[in-house]
Amino acid sequence: MTELKNDRYLRALLKQPVDKTPVWVMRQAGRYLPEYREVRAKAGDFMTLCSTPELACEVTLQPLRRYDLDAAIIFSDILTIPDAMGLGLHFVTGEGPKFSKTIQTPADIKNLTVPDMEDSLGYVMDAIRLTRREIDGKVPLIGFSGSPWTLACYMIEGGSSKDFAKIKGMMFDAPDQMHALLDVLADSVIAYLNAQIQAGAQAIMLFDTWGGLLSPENYNAFSLAYMKKIISGLQREADGREVPVTLFTKGGGQWLEAMAETGVNSLGLDWTTDITQARQRVGNKVTLQGNMDPCVLYASGDTVEREVMKILAGFGKGTGHVFNLGHGIHPAVDPENMARLVDAVHTHSKPYHQ
Ligand code: CP3
Repeated sequence: MTELKNDRYLRALLKQPVDKTPVWVMRQAGRYLPEYREVRAKAGDFMTLCSTPELACEVTLQPLRRYDLDAAIIFSDILTIPDAMGLGLHFVTGEGPKFSKTIQTPADIKNLTVPDMEDSLGYVMDAIRLTRREIDGKVPLIGFSGSPWTLACYMIEGGSSKDFAKIKGMMFDAPDQMHALLDVLADSVIAYLNAQIQAGAQAIMLFDTWGGLLSPENYNAFSLAYMKKIISGLQREADGREVPVTLFTKGGGQWLEAMAETGVNSLGLDWTTDITQARQRVGNKVTLQGNMDPCVLYASGDTVEREVMKILAGFGKGTGHVFNLGHGIHPAVDPENMARLVDAVHTHSKPYHQ
């Protein structure tokens, strides 16, 4: 394998010294980039883009050509697993993801099995292998998955939802059924992420987008417990290097201490948590990723730069910070503001690493 030319991101995740704070942005390959929209239009639909390795590789690399980013994230989606389990994923313009089949009954859950990785998800592994070749060691490549709870939300609701009434109904009425579903999902995620690591993913991120909707008790039982199981089941080394893992529960700011106990290297923070306080709470245990409000990118370039400086100062001196937004970049953002963000992180973070 080609040697990694920029390992700032991996070093910060392992709390090793860096010269500048590394930066990448969730959904950095996406609709705010005209070159993404062009490839997306040619592909026709979103799943074709995900399942054609050449196209997935191309859009993964697009943001790296424009910006001095310290990591790439493989272009795919968290919903590839339920799709591989036979639920039939499609995207309806303006409405987001939809499943043609949903999970409602105990029989639906019993019929689910861990999908064969190279068979039904081989396109993701092919995209990772191709991207590792094309990226040529420029920056590390991140692999990812949704958390079991977040995947279950979409599988039971059949798509996005405001209140997640169906899944919560099942959780309260039939907790054993819920646990059976989360168990097969956790096993699937372990197999999926280990296959990604074997294909060349150099770091892993777990997206728990909807864990923050739960009560503390239910977060522990229905989301955190399964993420802990996944983290213990991962192959944490490849090519003689540690493969660091980041866990991101959106809205999970009050549970950072418990999240830090799962054995992860890093926690993703959304913007509702103060990064100074978060660092005091987790101490030296984990790296923190985040946490600028994605809406700052709607403001002027000067404001973007000022807000970046605030977060850098909020984290303070030393390693253990990966700069990111607190959630995905919005499609209507001016690509110039993303350039301002990346450059501001690199320029203004140097004094914090001397
Ligand atoms: O971060 C990256 O650049 C990698 C690619 C990535 C996508 N989705 C591409 C995508 C990643 C990491 C995801 C994860 C994902 N997908 C999550 C977890 C993270 C989060 O945002 O909370 C979730 C909940 C999904 C499910 C999903 N996929 C939704 C709700 C949508 C619709 C969003 C919308 O704004 O329409 C998608 C589609 C999707 N996934 C797009 C992209 C770039 C937009 C599709 C398009 O081009 O039309």
